[in-house]
Amino acid sequence: MASHSLLLLPGDGIGAEIMKEVEKVVDWFNENSDMTFDTTEGHVGGAAYDRHGQAISDEDMAKALEVDAVIFGAVGGPKWDKVPYDVRPEAGLLRLRKEMELFANLRPAICYPALADASSLKPEVVEGLDILIVRELTGGVYFGEPKEITDLGNGQKRGVDTQVYDTYEIERISKVAFELARTRNNKVTSMEKRNVMKSGVLWNEVVTETHKNGFDDVELDHMLADAGGMQLVRWPKQFDVIVTDNLFGDMLSDVAAMLTGSLGMLPSASLGAPDPVTGKRKALYEPVHGSAPDIAGTGAANPIAMIASFAMALRYSFEEVGAADKVEKAIEATLEKGLRTKDLAKDGDTVVTTAEMGEAIVAELAALN
Ligand code: NAI
Ligand code: MG
Repeated sequence: MASHSLLLLPGDGIGAEIMKEVEKVVDWFNENSDMTFDTTEGHVGGAAYDRHGQAISDEDMAKALEVDAVIFGAVGGPKWDKVPYDVRPEAGLLRLRKEMELFANLRPAICYPALADASSLKPEVVEGLDILIVRELTGGVYFGEPKEITDLGNGQKRGVDTQVYDTYEIERISKVAFELARTRNNKVTSMEKRNVMKSGVLWNEVVTETHKNGFDDVELDHMLADAGGMQLVRWPKQFDVIVTDNLFGDMLSDVAAMLTGSLGMLPSASLGAPDPVTGKRKALYEPVHGSAPDIAGTGAANPIAMIASFAMALRYSFEEVGAADKVEKAIEATLEKGLRTKDLAKDGDTVVTTAEMGEAIVAELAALN
């Protein structure tokens, strides 16, 4: 019987509301499967600041480093706009990312057939889409030095950012991409700009080399990142896993996300290096959206991004692919029945609350059993 430990960090705003719905899914698996989840709840963001003046306590941070996966809601809100910079709500998430060394950010773009007409692209282009963007998260131009604005003394200034990648950084992110591809459709497309960037030349070389050394069962393509952007909009179903650097990944993952519709639908994962002894990666799963203070407390929050993030934990941290498929199928079936939270609703749809959507998904899980 597999047992997995989870740290739940609901955070602020709708974070707490959507976390309740994930807990229903976790409880369902505890009662109806041969997996058990050992869950602890902690505090992050404004919720943590209000308790003890830090965006995450040392105890919760230590717990995050210990568990198999962290399930994170969202942080922030106008209530904490004036708190000191280093204890602002976002600092909790940044500390988690830093101390857990989460260098791989996974953003899937899945288009559920029932929502294919909500995309800005033609339904046939997106229907059934299931791709995964693997973005390098801790290196590249957002962090490289020098990073400065200098005064040139002639009335001109110069802004400088530096794109830096070392071999090990490219190697570890490409390994993540190849390993993930093996659990999916076994294809990786690496994107860079080797035609104009030295870091792109190195990226291409290291991905190719990593592929040769232990991953040549996975299909590998290379594409220039600008052409990749065009292809994502033209025919996204040609891709399975896309691996790219921090900057291109930031843009391409936002483009891919919007192929499929609402912010309330988008899950994500951030992974660290495998433990040398157990081989397990540190991991944090969270919806892409924030704490949505404008709808907090109204029951309008869509819990699907949060529940789909838990499905990613099942797939990528626990290798429970069957259970992950099942959660995604339950989401799909709920949408097929026409249930919509307010963010997804069009005229004539049945609008349900956060809790009703969560309960409907659990009912579908039971029906699939
Ligand atoms: P947001 O993602 O919270 O909201 C943007 C819009 O989308 C809002 O109109 C909101 O109501 C809607 N929305 C978001 N998630 C939804 C859901 N699950 N169901 C239905 N509608 C949903 O972004 P915003 O408004 O820019 O930021 C609000 C707060 O969240 C800020 O304090 C920001 O710093 C924080 N934030 C936190 C993130 C995190 O915890 N990882 C990520 C992004 C923002
Ligand atoms: Mg972005």
